Amino acid sequence: MEELIRVENLQKVFGEKEVLRNIDLKILKGEIFAFIGPSGAGKTTLLRLLNFFEIPEKGNIRFRGMNSDIINIRRRMSLLFQTPAIFNNSVFENVAYGLKVRGIDKKIIDKKVGDALNIVGLPGIEKQNARTLSGGEAQRMAFARAIVYDPQVLLLDEPTANLDPANVMKIEEIIKRIRNERGTTIVLATHNIPQVRRIADRVGILLNGELIEVNSKVGIFSKPRDARSEAFINGEMIY
Ligand SMILES: Nc1ncnc2c1ncn2[C@@H]1O[C@H](COP(=O)(O)OP(=O)(O)O)[C@@H](O)[C@H]1O
Ligand SMILES: [Mg+2]
Repeated sequence: MEELIRVENLQKVFGEKEVLRNIDLKILKGEIFAFIGPSGAGKTTLLRLLNFFEIPEKGNIRFRGMNSDIINIRRRMSLLFQTPAIFNNSVFENVAYGLKVRGIDKKIIDKKVGDALNIVGLPGIEKQNARTLSGGEAQRMAFARAIVYDPQVLLLDEPTANLDPANVMKIEEIIKRIRNERGTTIVLATHNIPQVRRIADRVGILLNGELIEVNSKVGIFSKPRDARSEAFINGEMIY
């Protein structure tokens, strides 16, 4: 597979704390890449760096085949937060947001919002107030908002952390479908190891701000290169 994102020697510091150090990584076009690691390892910070919400102290991030202008790159990426903001407005307005800021034609917006709601299994609820949705529905609506402008790269920060098993399965199906149907590159942060087994192609293990191992899913589960990876995957690591 073709390389889409290259991260080189990335470092991020907050105050006195080096939150990420020496991160080197390639993300391939159309893959589902999962970052796993315990809470506080730096997963969210890494996703925020990839989306240019944060600026690194050292190192750089390069996108192949995209205009090097940061604004242009950001327009082709989407980040779904762990706890998405739900505007006190209709589902339509919530989902259409990213299209409206891009100045897209009303008819096209209607069509794209409908398509996105279909993909996440919430067809026809455009007029409902978003604040009346259940937790699982709200997360799927936020997912629709993230994919409605067909981003090339979708960054997902623990998208199923607060959901019941049925909604976890739905979100995982949506992730696979988006990748398979649209070829979207997906970068997922999670501490859910069974989820990694179910949907990831490749895996990076983050521990205390360090990317200790990047491997294929099969590799990481059958032959981890680092003893700490093995301990984390087997749930033997105590925090
Ligand atoms: N804006 C911030 N200011 C100061 N410290 C931060 C900030 N954001 C994250 N951190 C710290 O960086 C570390 C990594 O956090 P985070 O990336 O959220 O980890 P994870 O998502 O893996 O749980 C934590 O110690 C956290 O407290
Ligand atoms: Mg996090």
